[in-house]
Amino acid sequence: MTTDPAAWLAVDDYLAPLVAEDDVLRAASEAADRAGLPPIQVSPAQGRLLHLLARVHGARRVLEVGTLAGYSTIWLARALTGPQPHVTTIEVDPRHAAVARENLDRAGLGDVVDVLVGRGVDVLAELEAAAVEPYDLVFVDADKPSNAAYVEAALRLTRPGAVIVVDNVVRQGALADATTTDERVLGSRAVVERVAADPTLTATVVQTVGVKGYDGFLLVVRD
Ligand code: SAH
Ligand code: DHB
Ligand code: MG
Repeated sequence: MTTDPAAWLAVDDYLAPLVAEDDVLRAASEAADRAGLPPIQVSPAQGRLLHLLARVHGARRVLEVGTLAGYSTIWLARALTGPQPHVTTIEVDPRHAAVARENLDRAGLGDVVDVLVGRGVDVLAELEAAAVEPYDLVFVDADKPSNAAYVEAALRLTRPGAVIVVDNVVRQGALADATTTDERVLGSRAVVERVAADPTLTATVVQTVGVKGYDGFLLVVRD
């Protein structure tokens, strides 16, 4: 077994042709860099995983919390099938939302994606109050202490059969540290424990390594 991060990087590099970004995705990353946004979007391999999950699920409507520059949004939006495919994505920082809107317009997805600016919990409450059509897949990737609240909201905005994905729950293994005081790790532990205790949810955590280090996705299906 290797624990050498250089091997993770070499493998992500080797996999570039398998999970290839096209010019639009590359341009979205470059625009994010130029605008000085933090380089914390999902990797190409992870974006492709989100895309595949939406594809195998036959998702038509996706909800995302944490837009940044819209990079994961593009991977997800391109996976949708059926009439009126739609993504609602929520972003607290108006600068990030502006970069995302430009990237989504350039991707030809301006009519598919609504970028809503506001705090996740507030915008999710507004969506609930507006009784929006339920979502098929929810991707949670914003402020980590709110993860459990986001999953609660996701359960109110979906039907049985829906998929919920939460990014960054493993945090270099800190997930298993019962003594942590890091609010982001506490957020991961709270959401994992909330899901584990719910008999109506079937879930796993997929641990990941690569250009984003050692981390992982929580994958949940509503029974
Ligand atoms: N999903 C993106 C990356 C998101 S990074 C991708 O993979 O391409 C996390 C984003 O969540 C940042 O843009 C940050 O501004 C946003 N965010 C942080 N706190 C938030 C909150 N309370 N509500 C909504 N968005 C928030
Ligand atoms: C951070 C946030 C993310 O969503 C991510 O994928 C990586 C890093 C962060 O806030 O540092
Ligand atoms: Mg993330």
